[in-house]
Amino acid sequence: MTKKLTPFLKWAGGKRWLVNSDQLGLPESYNNYIEPFLGGGAMFLQLAPHKAILSDLNADLINTYLVMRDSPQELVSELTLLQSRHSKEFYYQMRSQKFECKFDKAVQFLYLNRTCWNGLYRVNLQGNFNVPIGTKDNVILDSDDFIATSKILKNAIIKQCDFEETIESSEDGDFLFVDPPYTVQHNMNGFIKYNETLFSWEDQERLMKCLIEAKNRGAHILLTNADHESIRNLFADLGDYSSVSRHSVLAGKTEGRGSTTEAIFKSWV
Ligand SMILES: C[S@@+](CC[C@H](N)C(=O)[O-])C[C@H]1O[C@@H](n2cnc3c(N)ncnc32)[C@H](O)[C@@H]1O
Repeated sequence: MTKKLTPFLKWAGGKRWLVNSDQLGLPESYNNYIEPFLGGGAMFLQLAPHKAILSDLNADLINTYLVMRDSPQELVSELTLLQSRHSKEFYYQMRSQKFECKFDKAVQFLYLNRTCWNGLYRVNLQGNFNVPIGTKDNVILDSDDFIATSKILKNAIIKQCDFEETIESSEDGDFLFVDPPYTVQHNMNGFIKYNETLFSWEDQERLMKCLIEAKNRGAHILLTNADHESIRNLFADLGDYSSVSRHSVLAGKTEGRGSTTEAIFKSWV
């Protein structure tokens, strides 16, 4: 049996917890697996499909996937070297560097992702990564299997682009796993306001429109999103809604423990 791979990146909104939960049903068979908001790619790595289209708007993230696909052994060697050099001073030195070469950029991305605060990805207005050092010192992880990850990525077309372009390429019998940033519509004092994240409410509306078109072409769609009234209303015509719960542990304190819910919409029966 093929080993199940876990994400090599820590990513905000990562779906590691969902793919391991028994609350999820998947289509029995499909042609292309398509994931337009790739992030840490938990679902792709778990399913290891034979044919896939993967994309994300984040150019540094996509560059890292391409280097992982093409040069996994070289990445291991370089990260092993960085493990021996890791320190607070080295982190900030690495963070301030600007690399031109795609391989060096990927090494820097992986190193910072593993050692920065909470695996957060944040850049300032100049596009410079500005997350402080975190508490984890492991540049190499026990779960790493870059060779196997590279092998699975060789089955995929990997692109840096907006979600619309990728969703528009879906056809009858394809499976779309869609996990956008969780923007919701705010309604305050009778006025409609939109929150000012990079993924706007207009993006959610644009997403709904192109998913309905994909559904009409015969694609199977699994959408995860915020479990919020505005989202439930917007995506009501996409398919069956269900709410999945996720246990969260905040700051390791008992009073911070709780369960949050996320929305799932499925377009197939
Ligand atoms: C919730 S994360 C996906 C998490 C992923 N499913 C995982 O398991 O790690 C959302 C992703 O959408 C990407 N994104 C934001 N706006 C986008 C857009 N307009 N088109 C494509 N990707 C976008 C972000 O870069 C981020 O990686």
